[in-house]
Amino acid sequence: MTTRRTALGALAGAALLPKAFAADTGAAGESLKEAAKKKGLRFGTAISAGRNQFGDPAYRALVERECGIIVAENEMKWQALEPRRNAPNFAPADAMLAWATDKGIAMRGHNLFWQAEKWLPAWVAKEDFGARPAQGAERLMRKHVKTVCEHFGKRIGSWDVVNEAVDPADGKLRQNALTRALSSSSGAIEQIDLAFRLAHEYAPHAQLVYNDYMRGDTGSSKHRAGVLAMLAELKKRGTPIHALGLQSHIGSWDESADRGKADLLEWRKFLDQVSGMGYDLLITEFDVNDRRLPADIAKRDAGVAAAARDYLDLTLSYPRLSDFLLWGMADNISWLQTWDEAPRTDKLPMRPLPYDAELRAKPLRQAILESIRAMPARQA
Ligand code: G3I
Repeated sequence: MTTRRTALGALAGAALLPKAFAADTGAAGESLKEAAKKKGLRFGTAISAGRNQFGDPAYRALVERECGIIVAENEMKWQALEPRRNAPNFAPADAMLAWATDKGIAMRGHNLFWQAEKWLPAWVAKEDFGARPAQGAERLMRKHVKTVCEHFGKRIGSWDVVNEAVDPADGKLRQNALTRALSSSSGAIEQIDLAFRLAHEYAPHAQLVYNDYMRGDTGSSKHRAGVLAMLAELKKRGTPIHALGLQSHIGSWDESADRGKADLLEWRKFLDQVSGMGYDLLITEFDVNDRRLPADIAKRDAGVAAAARDYLDLTLSYPRLSDFLLWGMADNISWLQTWDEAPRTDKLPMRPLPYDAELRAKPLRQAILESIRAMPARQA
């Protein structure tokens, strides 16, 4: 955090917006949420309870100005809501939801079940489900969904019910303590189906979403195939699932992710198949990994903006997509800065988001704005 940002944080009211904002957003100064609204799209971001985000008045003011919807980056995860069994902690999520409601900003929920065991609360993995493990696991899942959905009620209109169930390495469904307890065979599909049925029972008003990070590149082909197979199976079972959350952590993740147009073609095929099955779409966690772009900031920012433009022009063209959320607004707070698999070989800080550490708009913001302005309007 720089001195300038700290000083900004101390200002009050409208003055909280960074000085560079007006100049960087063009004469009209149209916000991203206003541009989105004209197209029937909701634009927003993830926000985290940390000092540099929800705790920073300047950052909050930026979110308020740019966003019509937010999602908690971590605070509604099971790990956060119930870090120890029967010891709930709703306060950080409640504070965000109260703020959003006060500002007229919608909030979506992320997530009821994170499939990788690593991201379930540690106590779930050690749970003794008793002599009838399937009933025990169902009882625990029911209690969790009931507690969380009843707590937030209709204030959360869209839930990521299951997060990242498909293993990108082989396209198979991930196993965890719940899937193992629910079935002695494959297990995972039963558990995923049950998760959605419970969500439907306790949040009948909500859009129920499966959220994952498959991309268009060849390295992601098994991942895409696995997600399609799972969605088809859920359709067959009549599972109450409404939409696929496209996390959209795009950019140069690995060597295979650099085929430009060919990747976009695969992505289009994938989106066609998902929408063909009758699922709605959302962009849930957009950012651009710049790890293989040059160190030079102008070149890097231009590369990030160009990759975003290509991806967004295609993805936003799908009329079934009506929410578009970033995974943070400013580079310094991005998860990519500290994620083991993400770092640049030159170890420079990454620049994956539309604002820099001093909350100055970057070319990525302009690219997002242009893609939104160019997209076809959604039907009311
Ligand atoms: O809050 C503690 C802090 O008290 C402690 O000092 C610090 C030390 O490591 O950890 C802090 O918690 C971290 C938390 O982020 C808040 O910063 C956790 O260790 C860290 O694991 C956690 O990472 C989050 C990750 O999900 C796992 O929950 C990232 O912020 C968050 O961006 C990331 O988000 C995921 C989506 O949920 C699903 N899709 C992929 C996306 C990126 O990985």
